[in-house]
Amino acid sequence: MTEISPLEKINSNFKNKDILSLDQFSPSDLKKLFTLTKKMKTIAVNAKPSDILKGTITILLFFEPSSRTFGSFSAAIQQLGGSVIAFQGMGNSSAAKGETLEDTIRVFEGYSDAIVIRHSEVGTAQKAANAATLVPIINAGDGIGEHPTQGLLDMATIYEKHGRLDNLTGVFAGDLLNGRTLHSTIRGLSLFKNNTLYLLSPKQLQLSREHYNEFTQRGLKLIEITNEKDIPANADFWYWTRVQKERFKSLADYEKVKNKFIVTKKLMKERAGKETIIMHPLPRVGEIESDVDDDRRAVYLRNQIRNGMYVRMALLALILGKA
Ligand code: NCD
Repeated sequence: MTEISPLEKINSNFKNKDILSLDQFSPSDLKKLFTLTKKMKTIAVNAKPSDILKGTITILLFFEPSSRTFGSFSAAIQQLGGSVIAFQGMGNSSAAKGETLEDTIRVFEGYSDAIVIRHSEVGTAQKAANAATLVPIINAGDGIGEHPTQGLLDMATIYEKHGRLDNLTGVFAGDLLNGRTLHSTIRGLSLFKNNTLYLLSPKQLQLSREHYNEFTQRGLKLIEITNEKDIPANADFWYWTRVQKERFKSLADYEKVKNKFIVTKKLMKERAGKETIIMHPLPRVGEIESDVDDDRRAVYLRNQIRNGMYVRMALLALILGKA
């Protein structure tokens, strides 16, 4: 069992903090992060040489497959002149020989300034943070738990478009039970007032009752729906997700619930508003038809994906005490 330690709040000071959950942030911490994110965008877009992270080494320890999170962390570090040592598919490592996670962390923290970790088990990033004594740990996804840097980039994308993180109406669709990205994003939105979220999923993939109760108690208005016809007109954003095949016990169970809800041009015409942005953490496997991609409201292959790198640049600069 992973020991549950109280999460350390950012409390205006990011330096050397582990990043495990959106619960560590306050609205003012997010404001600070997103202000720096804008500056990072300028560095990246204008190809301005930067040495903000020069002399730092960040280790990426990915026990589970990844392409965008892995790629955007690597790119973010290199944009700022830092170095990366990356391990993907830890099958080739000592973990395969039976080394404990704790030992792996104690070894790699000796070589680095920060460790980014992805793992299939909930609580692994917390476990790594408990083991680390020298460097901050960043959770890049722990099973069906959280994916805080994705939550941050999702919120940065909503903020960039709508200029606020309160008084929003949004739709989350797909695998609400297993989708760790939306667990972080909804947690983040629960920090702000007067947000209403429509939750569209088959019954089997509803948000867990624990999550539902926790988020409701925090003041989020959650409305569970099972039919696309109940999507509210003119929502501020739609956030579609992949049914997380790898979390199912049997392929047959997965087949029963996959792609029940698909974003099509027709659905956009019927239910989306002029300013509704269409988001997806990616990869998509059929949940959004490709002819939606050219719609200016579709941000998943544009701002949302790019914000991933800018937010990670800002977060690393703050955690490593360079901004
Ligand atoms: C997601 C993940 O790994 O949780 N991908 C990502 O990091 N953007 C979403 C997914 O795999 O469906």
